[in-house]
Amino acid sequence: MTDYHIADVELAAEGKRRILWADRNMPVLTSIRERFSDEEPLKDVRLSACLHVTAETANLMRTLKAGGADVLLCASNPLSTQNDVAASLVEDFGIKTYAVNGEDRETYYDHIRAALDFKPKITLDDGADLVSTLHSDYPEDISGVRCSMEETTTGVIRLEAMAQDGALKIPVVAVNDADTKHLFDNQYGTGQSTVDGIIRATDVLLAGKTFVVGGYGMCGRGLANRARGMGAHVVVTEVEPVRALQAVMDGFKVMSMDDAAIIGDIFCTVTGNTTVLTTQHFEKMKDGALIANSGHFNVEINIEGLEMLANKVNRNVRNYVDEYLFSDGRSVYLLGEGRLINLVAAEGHPADVMDMSFALQALMAEYSMKNDLTPAVHSVPREVDKLVASLKLQTMGIEIDALSDEQETYLNSWEEGT
Ligand SMILES: NC(=O)c1ccc[n+]([C@@H]2O[C@H](COP(=O)([O-])OP(=O)(O)OC[C@H]3O[C@@H](n4cnc5c(N)ncnc54)[C@H](O)[C@@H]3O)[C@@H](O)[C@H]2O)c1
Repeated sequence: MTDYHIADVELAAEGKRRILWADRNMPVLTSIRERFSDEEPLKDVRLSACLHVTAETANLMRTLKAGGADVLLCASNPLSTQNDVAASLVEDFGIKTYAVNGEDRETYYDHIRAALDFKPKITLDDGADLVSTLHSDYPEDISGVRCSMEETTTGVIRLEAMAQDGALKIPVVAVNDADTKHLFDNQYGTGQSTVDGIIRATDVLLAGKTFVVGGYGMCGRGLANRARGMGAHVVVTEVEPVRALQAVMDGFKVMSMDDAAIIGDIFCTVTGNTTVLTTQHFEKMKDGALIANSGHFNVEINIEGLEMLANKVNRNVRNYVDEYLFSDGRSVYLLGEGRLINLVAAEGHPADVMDMSFALQALMAEYSMKNDLTPAVHSVPREVDKLVASLKLQTMGIEIDALSDEQETYLNSWEEGT
């Protein structure tokens, strides 16, 4: 009997269809799953994962299980769980799953505690809630954790802060920082799925709208480019001069959020920072402005400030849309309660791109069992990154050139000049 807490096991059939559909677009992960079945590199390893419970994640769980691991999954966000996928994980794939879409904060942390009560040897995290709870509430179990993998930018930032404070007691791998992760998942995955989430929530026409992107990091540039591709006039806001300059030279309008607030029709933050959109901005926004976030935590939009400013809130004027009415007659619309809109209102990143992120997760779980890592934030080894890229190219039927001996020698020499 699988242990679980999910919304409705009856949804399993639909969940399974979606998991298998996603799997068709995850050939690299599939090839790793086949090898894992033969070699069982994670045999009898208890593994707890705190990730968005989506069809792609389900395929990662299947892969880890095929590698011999005893797997438990809990949600890394209260609103991103796909209840049908959770049901199928329990019913069809025998994965202990603790995730209910819309769970309150208490249930969210109950699920994280279930993942830690499982006494995992390996943990997978998306945002570092699992690892931080391990350190704060389970000090006696820290020594039992051999390694943790971190999936996202915000999680890596938190873990680096822990390491800097001398608080980090386990080895962690910054999967997010691998090239085959952030150059693709953050850029193309978040770019496309964030636009998808905003459209699914509102059915807005992007063509001709002024679309303000807060933050021109990996996710922000993906979003800005996708929004431009659909005909929006894209404005970028930044705090980092080099990133701002890149945005300018990529052809975007760059200005302060104070100025952008006046002209924007659609706003989406994706900075990993806090209070990027706040009362001073809401006060200036046009009637009908749409406000969303695709950064990891729901702190980028000052929702408390929005609530204080509004004299009336109409919840769910459409699914995932709350209307905030101001005394001067204007309304602004907050999408997905300020949580990652691509996972709340759409399905998160397409499987094609999660193929690489989750191939890295599986390979690094294997790597962490074969190598003794020190308590610190570790990078994904270059050879693993290159392997994932090569496998992805192979599955796409794309061949590339190889360095000749002469070229290798040339690139490694300094004597030859003008
Ligand atoms: N929605 C998703 O599915 C998804 C996927 C991957 C990452 N993320 C999250 O998205 C966030 C961004 O990730 P990233 O990889 O692009 O990070 P990044 O570090 O590459 O980029 C963040 C950018 O935001 C800028 N910034 C910081 N504070 C700002 C402010 N007040 N105003 C304007 N710009 C500001 C930074 O200078 C930086 O250029 C993180 O929270 C990450 O965890 C979400």
